[in-house]
Amino acid sequence: MSLATKFPKNFKLATATAAYQIEGAKDLNGRGFSTWDAIRLEPGRILDNSDPDLSCDGLLKYKEDVALLAEIGVTNYRFSISWSRILPDGTLSTINEEGIKFYRDLCLLLKENNIEPVVTLFHFDMPLAIYDNGTAWLNRENCEHFEKFADLCFQKFGDLVKTWITYNEINCQAWGSIVKVEGEFWLCPERPEIENHKQAPYFGAANMLLTHAKIYRNYDQNYKPTQHGILGITNGGRFCFPATDSQEDIEACNRARDWLFNFTIEPILSGSGDFPVLMRERMPFIPKFSEEEKEIIKGSTDFIGINYYLSFLVRAPKDGEKASSQSQHDGGYVFVEGKWDKICGETWIRYAPDGLLKILRYVKEKYANTPVFITENGCMDIVGQDQEDAFHDQHRIDYISGHLEAVAKALDEGCNVIGYTVWTLMDNFEWDDGFELKFGLCEVDFESPDKTRTMKKSAYFYKEFIKEFKDFHGI
Ligand code: NOJ
Repeated sequence: MSLATKFPKNFKLATATAAYQIEGAKDLNGRGFSTWDAIRLEPGRILDNSDPDLSCDGLLKYKEDVALLAEIGVTNYRFSISWSRILPDGTLSTINEEGIKFYRDLCLLLKENNIEPVVTLFHFDMPLAIYDNGTAWLNRENCEHFEKFADLCFQKFGDLVKTWITYNEINCQAWGSIVKVEGEFWLCPERPEIENHKQAPYFGAANMLLTHAKIYRNYDQNYKPTQHGILGITNGGRFCFPATDSQEDIEACNRARDWLFNFTIEPILSGSGDFPVLMRERMPFIPKFSEEEKEIIKGSTDFIGINYYLSFLVRAPKDGEKASSQSQHDGGYVFVEGKWDKICGETWIRYAPDGLLKILRYVKEKYANTPVFITENGCMDIVGQDQEDAFHDQHRIDYISGHLEAVAKALDEGCNVIGYTVWTLMDNFEWDDGFELKFGLCEVDFESPDKTRTMKKSAYFYKEFIKEFKDFHGI
């Protein structure tokens, strides 16, 4: 039995992008200024010092990109709707019809090609006008604006979109993107520091969880009965293994799992509707949900999205050891270099498909086999290699097939996995790393005026894999 035939007929085989990472056209057709527009203007901030206007021109080239998706044969395409392109100042005060038209045209074209859209509502980029009203997710008013944005998207796109994701990597949003915190990255320059910044990730997470849950309830009650879609939330999934079998390291590893993974999904997926118990014990100040809020949060998802790239080995800190991030400080854990292959050279990626299998088993056991959609998995080109070699990306084929094997094994064990997504369709803007790290199945020639896309060997591999899967099921 070949690998592709081990996946059930309704399994989603997808690839993904995010609005800010591919669209460009930041001043076009009424789009508003966003946090990442501001970040890119900060001198020296982006690793490769790339031109703040450089992009894949995805907005202008969407037809070509859909043709590429059709050529690869994916069943689903995950992309995000830019909040700033629909609501230029983040609020309903101005609705940008051209933005709505763009995403409708994209969805219609996808559907013509038998590709189902998977839409993320928040993928790291916020309209700057509302960010400035109060720091990002720490301001409940911004959460309400996001609820209204989501509602508008259900109205405008709900006939075409049947799979929704509220937040991308809500845990990374909480730890890294709310406010300037020592040892964490800060996603928006020249903005005021806030008081009690050590508490910010917890308050931000609580606000986002409640916001997600309200969006879910709205969709469930007012749109699902007629639109028949599903709505979930994506968490960054990095599985933690204890570095040794000592009691201290096992306990540190359990804390790391709570601080890195359970923090932002346990309130939704467990019966308690609350943050992990260990977290409450160590951080007595973390926000408390009212009984009514717990009821709204509990069970507020149809699936959990997991972005999986690597795993960590974890040990207990030594006496007086300085932590390298707030999460590690608060949780009391330290990363150690693991046994995993640096498949892309000296980067943060590790080839750890065993961690993916473990995390799928973990969700099955801990969270009552909630459906899991792997909403990202992939790796960058090998750093330092010649451009020509980027097309012969055997390491990416090995990486993807290794993870697909882990998913097949998990399915065989009864894990409720509903889809798998390769990050990403094409080389694009990789946040702080600019265009330095390239995750694409397709290469983009950023030097050419046309931003020519060319399939790499891994795109052909994925195409063959999906073809075999479809042929087997007669799709
Ligand atoms: C996760 C993020 O969702 C995505 O935007 C990013 O490009 C990939 N990780 C790779 O770093």
